[in-house]
Amino acid sequence: MMRLAILTSGGDSPGTNAAIEAVVRHARQEGAEVLGIRHGFAGLAAGDLSPLTVSDVDGIGARGGTVLGTSRDRTVGEAEGRERIATTLRRERIDGLVLLGGDGSIRHGGRSLNDMGVACVAIPCTIDNDVPETDRSLGFDTACNRAIALADGIRDTAQALPGRMFVLETLGGQTGHIALAVAETVYADLVLLPEFPLDLDYGAARMAAAVASRGYALAVASEGAGDVHAMTAYLAEAAGHRARLTTIGHAQRGGPPSYLDRRLAAEFGALAVERLLAGETGLMTACSGYHVHTVDLGWVAAGQKSPDAAAYRRLNGMEVAD
Ligand code: F6P
Repeated sequence: MMRLAILTSGGDSPGTNAAIEAVVRHARQEGAEVLGIRHGFAGLAAGDLSPLTVSDVDGIGARGGTVLGTSRDRTVGEAEGRERIATTLRRERIDGLVLLGGDGSIRHGGRSLNDMGVACVAIPCTIDNDVPETDRSLGFDTACNRAIALADGIRDTAQALPGRMFVLETLGGQTGHIALAVAETVYADLVLLPEFPLDLDYGAARMAAAVASRGYALAVASEGAGDVHAMTAYLAEAAGHRARLTTIGHAQRGGPPSYLDRRLAAEFGALAVERLLAGETGLMTACSGYHVHTVDLGWVAAGQKSPDAAAYRRLNGMEVAD
């Protein structure tokens, strides 16, 4: 019987548990065993793993976080850590590993496992949606929905009591995928992203114009775009209107996954198991639109994923080259 193991590395995301459930269900259906590794690569090096049955994972897909626990650690990047990982994999007779993680975990962890000759298929799990070669990573849709719900709430009060400006800060680390997607969806007046520096006087003029035309202005800022308190104060001063700041923080990363994330997790999980059972390795599950497939981990490691510059410029009222 083939023995697979599964681990979560880096920041958790809604949909990670759904992927774990899918991997276990699909593997068991195909007659393979699955061991769950606790707390990422550190747990793998420490031999902290145990079998997962279908009843262990029944219904976990509905919950945010990860039942396996995760960690941000360098174990797999260090020679001593890799030796301990190899020892665990040998001792437990693991034939293949499913790696759930974000850009850093897949880029570096996936490559290290490949170099060690460990059969591995990765599943992109991060709200940041910054993993190259896939349109979506698990958690992005849910995280966007949470921020969109808050923006909709802000709009209700903004329309009721005109004359104010609002800034909504999203998570996203040093990337702006979430903020841009949210800003486009709610027709924000301004979006501030780490990838593209924005002249705040230009931003303030846009916000002031929005207050004049629709009674309020809404900016969406990714957390990596700068000190959001200072930026909000500057916009208020320069535009001459009161500005209110809402920061979502980690509430954006938890909670139940959306239908789209659960559905994608189910497909990614089943596909990862299929590939490993077929003896394939060095892959990541990915989607193009709604089509699910796998890509080479080497392409992911070599790739970069930036927010759409044209969409950014259009939203901010800047000229877009043809
Ligand atoms: O996992 C990605 C992410 O949620 C980013 O959006 C955010 O900046 C970061 O993790 C927060 O990390 P931590 O939970 O370690 O504070």
